[in-house]
Amino acid sequence: MKFSYFLPTKLTFGFGTVEGVKAETKGLRSTWALVVTDKVMMKTGTVQKVTHGLDVPFEVFDEVEAEPKIEVAEGVADKVRSKSYDLVIGVGGGSSMDMAKVAAGFATNKGTARSFVGNDLFAKKPVASIMVPTTAGTGAELTVTSMVTVDGHKQWINSPLLLPSVAVVDPELTMTMPPGVTAATGMDALCHNTEAYLSSLANPITDSAALEGIALIVKDLQKAFESANDRPARESMSLGALLGGIALQAKMVYGHSIGYTIATRFKLAHGVSCGLPLPYIISNYAVACAPKMKKLAEAYGVEPATEPQELGREVAEKARSIAAALKIPTTLKEIGVAESDLGMLADECLGMYPRPNSPLVFDGKSMTELYRRMWEGNLEA
Ligand SMILES: [Fe+2]
Repeated sequence: MKFSYFLPTKLTFGFGTVEGVKAETKGLRSTWALVVTDKVMMKTGTVQKVTHGLDVPFEVFDEVEAEPKIEVAEGVADKVRSKSYDLVIGVGGGSSMDMAKVAAGFATNKGTARSFVGNDLFAKKPVASIMVPTTAGTGAELTVTSMVTVDGHKQWINSPLLLPSVAVVDPELTMTMPPGVTAATGMDALCHNTEAYLSSLANPITDSAALEGIALIVKDLQKAFESANDRPARESMSLGALLGGIALQAKMVYGHSIGYTIATRFKLAHGVSCGLPLPYIISNYAVACAPKMKKLAEAYGVEPATEPQELGREVAEKARSIAAALKIPTTLKEIGVAESDLGMLADECLGMYPRPNSPLVFDGKSMTELYRRMWEGNLEA
């Protein structure tokens, strides 16, 4: 066994930890901070909760949109380069944190935002950053990736240098999420943990995080969805999401790739677009990941069967029942995908979003078959 794991981020977790942001800015010796967020976070007073009592002077960039386009990244690049900010504080869901992470990189690296789309394109170390998630889903506070939409397609800016200096994960901040956002972001976290577990790059650290993350989410996502003020459920979800962020170093398999092909076209929240394929991914990967299926079944709270295919089917059924209870669509037909487009989507999935770390290798024919099963709602692998 050989693996490496890299996590330079200081993590603080728990109700009330947002109070500690002030101390963290001091610890980082910052003199001038840029808060990167969206207008909803400003309106709900969440940003004010984070910045309350800060000693360091700060300004706010609140123009982040959901599923940000590259133009938003260009905007944040202009803003962070307009003054000598030495700290970026990201407040919000994955979109705000992703834009905050790239802002920290743009502060010290020249070039258009577009020129950083790809892998490892930052030459210089970013300025310090603090991430404060307000959803329980993306785990972006602990990942090397920032997603951007470029010319209608999901792309990414990836670099280990983008890992934040500090992540402050306070479940209290997630309690104002409406049920639909709780469902979609929670489903995203379930996908991260499950897909990372199925990845050929998984290691004992990512597997431990993933299995615990799945168990927490399966136990409490429905409760958080039904009752916004259920504090133990919110705590489980925040923890499950950050464990997903830890697991993400194993990378995703084809569930997220499939999600990218339908998210922009059908205007789906990220968690919905990757949640829809999840049950089918589980049943399809069951044989390729046979030695790992028993533990996955336990994490999903499913009575383990003996045959991997059977196990996969049972876990997939459970994942589908979780999605259905959250009112997340479970077939491509439901979201309006035309039957005649299945081959085109499968080609785009393989061409634009390949997964060399997938233990299950697809060609055009088998990927189209998978799209067809997702269209019909057929969990058979
Ligand atoms: Fe995701």
